[in-house]
Amino acid sequence: MEKTVPAGSDIRLEGYGSENAALDHAFRIVDAALPPKARNRGQIVVCAASEIAPGEKRVVQDEQTGVSIGVFNVAGEFFAIKNVCPHLGAPLCLGSVHATHRPSPVFEFRPDLDGRVLRCPWHGWEFDIVTGKALYDANSRVATYPCAVNDLGDVVVSV
Ligand code: FES
Repeated sequence: MEKTVPAGSDIRLEGYGSENAALDHAFRIVDAALPPKARNRGQIVVCAASEIAPGEKRVVQDEQTGVSIGVFNVAGEFFAIKNVCPHLGAPLCLGSVHATHRPSPVFEFRPDLDGRVLRCPWHGWEFDIVTGKALYDANSRVATYPCAVNDLGDVVVSV
């Protein structure tokens, strides 16, 4: 049976149909995300970079605001993300880290964003650790913070 596009719909029926179009859109959003902005309130020295191995994380607290922040080592680079899920406020950074798949034809798998996809421990919403962008909704994201390794070899988050 041939698929048809409902009247008034902008859903494209290619590959997996509407699912494919939604994923395409999500990846465009992730790819276009801007780097995080510093808020110029100071810095948090997290720990020596060697203490967070690739694929691991450390959760710290901004003492000025009480905000909890997760610092992740993604393939040797460090990224900081707010430890609060925009859905219902779960401690997002306690979730698991995965890859995902790009849209593709049936029986073809295109893994991507390996080690970058953080899944909320409560209801499974997924976010790109590098950009903070949600994978499911162009209008949803979680705050990110500039993060770098200083001359002493410590991971520093700008807040
Ligand atoms: S609180 Fe994170 S998905 Fe619901």
